[in-house]
Amino acid sequence: MNVLVIGSGGREHALAWKIAHSERVERVLAAPGSAGMEGVAKCFCDVEASDSDAIVALCQKESVGLVVIGPEDPLAAGLADRLRDAGFAVFGPSAAAARLEGSKAFAKDFMQRHGIPTAGYETFDALAPAIDYVRERGGRCVVKADGLAAGKGVAMCADPEQAERALREMMEDRRFGEAGCRVVVEDWLDGEEASYYAITDGQHIVTLAAAQDHKRALDGDRGENTGGMGAYSPAPVFTAEVEKRTFDRIVLPTIRGMAADGVPYVGVLYVGLMIDSEGQPSVVEFNVRFGDPETQPLMVQMQGDLMPLLLGAARGELDEQTPLEWPGAAVCVVMASDGYPRQYAKGVAIRGLAHAGGLESADDAVVVFHAGTRRAADGGFETSGGRVLGVTARGHNVQQARDRAYKAVAEIAFEGAQQRRDIAARALDR
Ligand code: AMP
Ligand code: GLY
Repeated sequence: MNVLVIGSGGREHALAWKIAHSERVERVLAAPGSAGMEGVAKCFCDVEASDSDAIVALCQKESVGLVVIGPEDPLAAGLADRLRDAGFAVFGPSAAAARLEGSKAFAKDFMQRHGIPTAGYETFDALAPAIDYVRERGGRCVVKADGLAAGKGVAMCADPEQAERALREMMEDRRFGEAGCRVVVEDWLDGEEASYYAITDGQHIVTLAAAQDHKRALDGDRGENTGGMGAYSPAPVFTAEVEKRTFDRIVLPTIRGMAADGVPYVGVLYVGLMIDSEGQPSVVEFNVRFGDPETQPLMVQMQGDLMPLLLGAARGELDEQTPLEWPGAAVCVVMASDGYPRQYAKGVAIRGLAHAGGLESADDAVVVFHAGTRRAADGGFETSGGRVLGVTARGHNVQQARDRAYKAVAEIAFEGAQQRRDIAARALDR
């Protein structure tokens, strides 16, 4: 079978890499993909993820048997619906179901209706009542733009003054455009975060391991929020007991609730969790796709074929007994451009990739996923994005995976490269 992966980042590289390992797969294609993915996928770099006509045409021309959609934007725009209408098997939710990520107000109302634990909240369409609300409430809160804002539309506010500023930025200055016309003001949850993944055809469910990412730019969780500076799996905070609670109280009622509401959910549900000191999980966010960079360690850690899950979900015949194992641990360290998440230069030469294992080292322990690279004139790679590489290693435990990942990072160099030194430290300091 030919499988088409939509997207071009580190997450899509990791998915394509894993899919390419399957005996069921003849060819992996990617649109637009990236030069760094060419070792595992044939890339159609002129086909953008937003161009559904071109993607349908590509599927027809290349006899694609399954489309796997990586990022949220094409899902929210209805790419999965469009492809299903054209007769293709698709891994990814409909636009209607993608509102779980695309609208925070939708997700919160859904959770409230179905009794799914999450922070208390109010939704506002106008500035004045929102300001009144945060003043009356006093104390800290979290202000969120309703729509998609590339992970940046969340303001953690220590007091009502900060909340008012965040509200003005979103609703008055339109910092996130239309996404901030409506806002959700949430209670601030304390605890430790983890993300958990459920693959589903709308009815049957297979869960994956839990992971933790590192959103802040600097060591010790300081500095600005980024798309993610690293991730690891499994997450020790996610004990068997927490997992059972999460499944029973969150995953199952969400999948059942979406089906009952007439919007069956197909694809992977990313559950962003806050786990309190008593081990009680609450939903911080839903995402309607795999996490980036969490997918990188998940795919490297996972033993077993991903294809039966993707295909089973897409075809509505997911086998809940699909064998999967998660031996040891995996760690992904993101190497980012100087200045990220703000301004950064592009076109900086990257050295040492082959030494670090290139795409896959001989002992199969380290894989370097490309997030923001392009082919340089000399045939090597240069930087083309903020997050450049996801250096990912597996090991018998977190310590070994982490040591391997940082050893590989040390082999790679580009001017101004920045990476956190403490990825997965929380798992080791326990
Ligand atoms: P979101 O885009 O909703 O996942 O929010 C981004 C990040 O903000 C989360 O990963 C959390 O670190 C933090 N966050 C969001 N909502 C809350 C909340 N209610 N309480 C505490 N932290 C939160
Ligand atoms: N790493 C967080 C996300 O993918 O949303």
